[in-house]
Amino acid sequence: MSNLKTNMNNLEDVLESLNSKKLKVCVIGIGRIGLPTALSFAKSGLDTIGVDINKNLIDSINSGKFPLKDEPGYDEIFDNVIKNKKFTSTTNIEDAVPNCDLILLSLPTPMDENNIPDYSALRIVASKLSDILSPNSLVIVESTIEPGFIEDEMVSIISKSGRLEIEKNFFIGVCPENANPGEILHDFTNLPRLVGGINSNIAKIIKSIYNFVFSVELVEMPNCKTANAVKLTTNVFRDINIAFVSELSLMFEKLGIDTNKVLEAAKKKYNFQVHYPGSGVGGPCLPINSYQLLNTARRIGCNLSIIEAGRKINEKMPEHVVELILDAFKESKKTIEGSHILILGISYKPNVKDIQLTPAEEIIKILQNLGTNIHIYDPYFASNEVFGITVEKNIENIFSNIDATIIVTAHDEFKKLKISSFKEMKNPILIDTRGIIEPLEAKQNEIIFRGLGRGDF
Ligand SMILES: NC(=O)c1ccc[n+]([C@@H]2O[C@H](COP(=O)([O-])OP(=O)(O)OC[C@H]3O[C@@H](n4cnc5c(N)ncnc54)[C@H](O)[C@@H]3O)[C@@H](O)[C@H]2O)c1
Repeated sequence: MSNLKTNMNNLEDVLESLNSKKLKVCVIGIGRIGLPTALSFAKSGLDTIGVDINKNLIDSINSGKFPLKDEPGYDEIFDNVIKNKKFTSTTNIEDAVPNCDLILLSLPTPMDENNIPDYSALRIVASKLSDILSPNSLVIVESTIEPGFIEDEMVSIISKSGRLEIEKNFFIGVCPENANPGEILHDFTNLPRLVGGINSNIAKIIKSIYNFVFSVELVEMPNCKTANAVKLTTNVFRDINIAFVSELSLMFEKLGIDTNKVLEAAKKKYNFQVHYPGSGVGGPCLPINSYQLLNTARRIGCNLSIIEAGRKINEKMPEHVVELILDAFKESKKTIEGSHILILGISYKPNVKDIQLTPAEEIIKILQNLGTNIHIYDPYFASNEVFGITVEKNIENIFSNIDATIIVTAHDEFKKLKISSFKEMKNPILIDTRGIIEPLEAKQNEIIFRGLGRGDF
């Protein structure tokens, strides 16, 4: 039987449990976001258990290995909370949940091959909670979901066994996660968080819990669906604006205008918020978040044409990168078929190890269909096999076997490369999709250069 001690509907009870460190926390889904979340709760002194279906991950954590090497600061926190036994992890949800007062869900919310959001992990876990959640517990969904998902789906799934009734003996709310991979500790300790509850009492209780752990500004929303709407609005704003500058950059290229110069000057205007063009938008958030809002719109018969158009542009950018390299090969009077092309960077964003929905995959696929031999160098994947290609171990001595290089991800390591390194290539052709190479410098070094959105030099 459960040893639950806290009534999660009672603010005084919750505060007492927090201050006496009696509150027991379970984080379900301890991936990129869930693990740092669980470690933060454990660091605040609360007994925290992480649950995940990935047995390898749990085995690795239980053997003391911290899996997120690209999250500065958390390796030390991990060592400390494991040593003082504040954090444990398991694959056994039935053992973990009934003993906890607070259940955080940091489960994946990906999309399928038709860009339809997939909430199956949340539905599966909600269904389990219906059988095993202790009465008077609080469930907080941190995953990114569509507005209305809590009210329309989660509540009825968790209630379905008949043991639990919302606002009577179980409570739910949201605190959408908005940290950036690679900077999670910084973001958890600096960025404001949104809080929404099934009622305002629960919103206040969630605020007091997060305040105990994170001490950042907590913005109370009128309900769960508004909090989730804000989360999606902020990310989709970025997806659309990247599409806007990417499309502009295609025109500036033709006009001989350097988009970098345009943006550097434009951002001096107080109300211009700069976004940068590139080879596409990937990752676990932006593309999916746009499709989440489009899914909501379709469901309720609305039209979100700007988001739709933005997605089309961002998804076309890999094709433009290939157009740039074809044009460069034309200038070099060599054929692209049979050539050796080096992809610098496969992560969807700089300085993280993450290839979810990365534009590099599409670029590689198109180039392989053109009969090229693809080589990859990315310091975060050195010696791994990615997209069926073994990633080079290091960058030294690569260039002499290469005809053309495409910078896909602006990892800091690539910004430090001397332009003369690229001269070692056989052709040499250099395509910069992230605006990190000075076009004139490339030209002075007799490199055939194409910069996405950089005009003709
Ligand atoms: N990664 C980001 O940059 C980021 C930023 C903000 C918000 N988010 C959101 O946070 C949520 C989690 O994302 P993430 O990047 O941490 O995902 P992730 O894939 O890194 O982690 C999810 C974890 O859940 C586990 N899991 C899947 N099904 C499970 C189940 N039935 N029971 C237990 N564990 C299960 C997986 O094994 C995995 O370890 C998503 O909704 C995402 O949109 C992610």
